[in-house]
Amino acid sequence: MAVQVVMRITFFLLLTTYELAEAAAPIAKPNCSDSCGDIYIPYPFGKTTECYLNNWFKIVCNETGGSLKAFLPSIGMEVLEINLTDPYNDNYFWNDPGLVRLNVPIISSNCKNLSSGNIGGVDISGSPFFFSSYRDKFISVGCDNLALMTSINPMVVVGCNSICVDKSIIKDIKLKNCLGVNCCITTIPSGNQVLNASFRSIKEENKVNEECKYAFLADDKWLSSEDITYNVQFLEYVPVVLEWTASDFITVDPNELRRRNSEEYPTLYGTKYYYCLKGYQGNPYLPTGCQVLHLLFFDC
Ligand SMILES: *[C@@H]1O[C@H](CO)[C@@H](O)[C@H](O)[C@H]1NC(C)=O
Ligand SMILES: *[C@@H]1O[C@H](CO)[C@@H](O)[C@H](O)[C@H]1NC(C)=O
Ligand SMILES: *[C@@H]1O[C@H](CO)[C@@H](O)[C@H](O)[C@H]1NC(C)=O
Ligand SMILES: *[C@@H]1O[C@H](CO)[C@@H](O)[C@H](O)[C@H]1NC(C)=O
Ligand SMILES: *[C@@H]1O[C@H](CO)[C@@H](O)[C@H](O)[C@H]1NC(C)=O
Repeated sequence: MAVQVVMRITFFLLLTTYELAEAAAPIAKPNCSDSCGDIYIPYPFGKTTECYLNNWFKIVCNETGGSLKAFLPSIGMEVLEINLTDPYNDNYFWNDPGLVRLNVPIISSNCKNLSSGNIGGVDISGSPFFFSSYRDKFISVGCDNLALMTSINPMVVVGCNSICVDKSIIKDIKLKNCLGVNCCITTIPSGNQVLNASFRSIKEENKVNEECKYAFLADDKWLSSEDITYNVQFLEYVPVVLEWTASDFITVDPNELRRRNSEEYPTLYGTKYYYCLKGYQGNPYLPTGCQVLHLLFFDC
């Protein structure tokens, strides 16, 4: 009899554990698909009206050439990865809000088979997306080149310069080694939503440089993982990490936040984001919140 009771309790505990483990981590709303191919789509992102928070977070999952690609039509870019804030994951930095990795077009000036002048530039002002100062670098490829990353007005955000040794080398660039010869690299401040560039000559200040030049932001992870030589003229897009928050649209009050086993943290530019407490997993933006990770299940 006693044995039976113990067994029943054990069975009950296992069942509960199993059910919780199953329910531990919904990242999308009920009845909403949480992926597009290999890409996870956590709420507030979603594919259909009932599934995303608002149009900023709408994902279009498109089949192109046999593979699925995700797009954010609100800012017109392809999505490579979406992450909820996960500060206890080794890949995260403190101060990383939610992240979204996008293919962002590169900017060029005076390059062959492109009409002269600046081509490109991205303006996503008013959106909940900001270029990540922790994860992106500004890079410019060009000879005798003072490159300025500009915002609106055009206000100078940051700049870097590269001398010229051999004009032809700007074709084969190891972006990791952009140390000021034919290309340069610099860090960016946080809170930016406009990416544009202007180019000058170093030798003759105030002279607009007529050579072909490129400028773009790039994800550090992409820069350091690839050891290949880039022929920048064939690059159309480069992976860039943007931060996202949803605090302009949803506020979870402190009691509810605790019930969801989550906390909030502010960004440097006046928004805030939610994340699961250590040892919990799920989505703090949903009522199901974050749940304990049930590793116990494997004990049976
Ligand atoms: C999910 O879909 C099922 C079956 O279509 C339906 O019965 C249920 O009400 C839906 N749940 C929600 C939250 O929409
Ligand atoms: C998705 O694909 C269709 C047809 O291939 C195309 O018309 C549409 O513009 C694509 N949508 C996006 C967001 O790329
Ligand atoms: C984002 O999520 C992907 C899986 O979807 C994971 O491989 C990657 O490491 C995550 N990025 C960070 C910064 O945690
Ligand atoms: C420029 O022209 C070359 C040769 O015609 C071509 O291979 C290359 O793709 C073109 N580049 C761009 C960015 O259109
Ligand atoms: C970038 O700067 C160029 C040249 O000043 C301008 O023509 C273009 O409209 C700007 N792009 C954006 C997105 O602001």
